[in-house]
Amino acid sequence: MPAENVVRTRGVTKVFRLGELSVPALKGIDMEIKRGEYISIMGPSGSGKTTLFNMIGGLDKPSEGRVYIDEVDVAQLDAYELAWLRCRKIGYIFQTFNLIPVMSALENVTLPMVFAGMSADDSREKGVALLSRVGLGDRVHHKPFQLSGGQQQRVAIARALANDPAIVLADEPTGNLDLNTGKEIIQLLKTLNREKEVTIISATHDLKMIDVSDRIFWIRDGKIERVERRADIELEVGTVEGQ
Ligand SMILES: Nc1ncnc2c1ncn2[C@@H]1O[C@H](COP(=O)(O)OP(=O)(O)OP(=O)(O)O)[C@@H](O)[C@H]1O
Ligand SMILES: [Mg+2]
Repeated sequence: MPAENVVRTRGVTKVFRLGELSVPALKGIDMEIKRGEYISIMGPSGSGKTTLFNMIGGLDKPSEGRVYIDEVDVAQLDAYELAWLRCRKIGYIFQTFNLIPVMSALENVTLPMVFAGMSADDSREKGVALLSRVGLGDRVHHKPFQLSGGQQQRVAIARALANDPAIVLADEPTGNLDLNTGKEIIQLLKTLNREKEVTIISATHDLKMIDVSDRIFWIRDGKIERVERRADIELEVGTVEGQ
């Protein structure tokens, strides 16, 4: 039986040191995220969203505090287990897509499967299925530069799903997309969240994201200012959309 909290943090702080200067980016983050939730982390530039994203994703270590994934303390994992977590349990989506330029869409999507030990034939079949799922069945052999921004982000989403992760972490997934393409990507993430019961945690400035989120963590100056359920702010969203 999987643990109820897929992500839990306790007192997470992060202080970056730049010579004499210390920059407190996170000042004690406590959060609990349940399996299958769609969470948005919203806040102004510099509020600590990417820093928190990196802590949850095991890409960086907190200065203090704990991050638990499926109730396992990430700090207790050895290098091999941490690599497993990053490869199998979590899928990552970035603002700038971060596709490998010399590889085709299909090769980008199958790469994490190959790292996970899947055979070439199986990974190819699964890669084509995932690309079809994100609407790119007819673009599998295109290289990133032959794809639009929205299509590149779809490839990145397919890649994030390569190893059936429990969690997809997305840092500003619509940050480089126009309004309509951004909407499509948000809808796609929501559909995948429902269909595959994957937990989505997205750092974003994009108010359109509120519409699909179960809860919104508002972060300011390295602290969680408030947590809202979408149901409680429907009126406000209507106002935003109407502008
Ligand atoms: N490697 C680093 N070294 C020093 N300071 C850093 C580093 N990374 C982030 N910071 C600082 O930590 C704070 C939080 O940065 P972070 O990137 O998490 O913000 P953000 O909320 O993601 O902003 P944005 O919306 O612009 O992406 C900022 O004040 C930033 O300058
Ligand atoms: Mg950021």
